[in-house]
Amino acid sequence: MRAALYRQTGPSSVLSVEELPTPEPGPGQVRVRVACSGVNPTDWKTRSGATGRDPEGFQVPHQDGAGVVDALGEGVSGLSVGQRVWLYLAAAGNRWGTAAELSVVPAERAVPLPASASFELGACLGVPAVTAAHCLSCAGGGPGALEGTSVLVAGGAGAVGHYAIELAKHAGARVVATVSSEQKAALARAAGADLVVNYRQPGAAEAVRQFAGRVERVVEVAVGANLDLDLAVCGPGSVVVVYASEAADPALPTRRLMTANLTLHYVLLYGVPAPELAEAVAWVSRALADGALSALPLHRYPLAEVAAAQDAVQQGAIGKVLVLP
Ligand SMILES: NC(=O)c1ccc[n+]([C@@H]2O[C@H](COP(=O)([O-])OP(=O)(O)OC[C@H]3O[C@@H](n4cnc5c(N)ncnc54)[C@H](OP(=O)(O)O)[C@@H]3O)[C@@H](O)[C@H]2O)c1
Repeated sequence: MRAALYRQTGPSSVLSVEELPTPEPGPGQVRVRVACSGVNPTDWKTRSGATGRDPEGFQVPHQDGAGVVDALGEGVSGLSVGQRVWLYLAAAGNRWGTAAELSVVPAERAVPLPASASFELGACLGVPAVTAAHCLSCAGGGPGALEGTSVLVAGGAGAVGHYAIELAKHAGARVVATVSSEQKAALARAAGADLVVNYRQPGAAEAVRQFAGRVERVVEVAVGANLDLDLAVCGPGSVVVVYASEAADPALPTRRLMTANLTLHYVLLYGVPAPELAEAVAWVSRALADGALSALPLHRYPLAEVAAAQDAVQQGAIGKVLVLP
């Protein structure tokens, strides 16, 4: 099978596309014929060495994808050969990521993809949608706890932000999203945000407060840049869930945080306990079945151009980058 791979971390030029022997699924694993591979920031960060080490032997990159189950390992139940699935965390602790014709993953990381959802949509979900679902529900009470609350999604046109908006709306919340441009505002509105605010313009916090009053939950992509804004729109009991700090780390204003009785909750998908991960995946699946999830504008690359695809993500492509094996 043809696969993208790297043998050492470094710039995107460490990626090559090669012919590899067909991987066999071990006990509890499935082999999936990949139709689309979704590219996330974590993929280039791991490949670059910023967050990953040199692989043992080689690593086929990319956590997310969608395709058709091609073979079942011993003891796998609940999936069948020929079934359409979406994949998440395919390359976490596993060499057979999705940037290949075939991927082999633990069976629980292959999730049934309804006929109503395209492979391209399926390949967008993984890391972004599961992260968004967990960020929205990790404070407890599941999605039901969000009904009638106000949720602020920072960076509402990003991949995680997009699904945070759609899932919060699916749960019955009022959603405010921040963006930095009119192009991104249009994307956040299309995802269902009730109010979209340009965080670079003065009066952003006031606009959020006027619309939502107190925000119960923030899904935060840039806590270093936004903690002031978050504090200005949160109140007692609010939870700011941080999954990234695109800017520098914040200096923590202890007095203001105490006064607000605010919870800062940090999330890293790779470390989320399995039962909570399963709950997030289940919510994404329900929302998908309900037709509540969509794809951002897509940028498609052939497998031979996997390096360009990862570079596009690193350079902040607006929308979602896919690799088609
Ligand atoms: N902790 C985890 O488990 C986890 C999971 C998934 C992703 N991540 C990380 O989260 C980050 C985003 O991932 P992604 O896939 O959503 O990337 P993405 O699609 O590139 O989106 C990133 C978004 O962040 C926005 N942004 C940057 N600075 C901002 C600020 N000061 N205020 C509001 N928005 C801001 C950008 O919008 P503007 O250009 O408009 O600012 C952009 O839309 C990456 O660093 C990724 O590695 C972490």
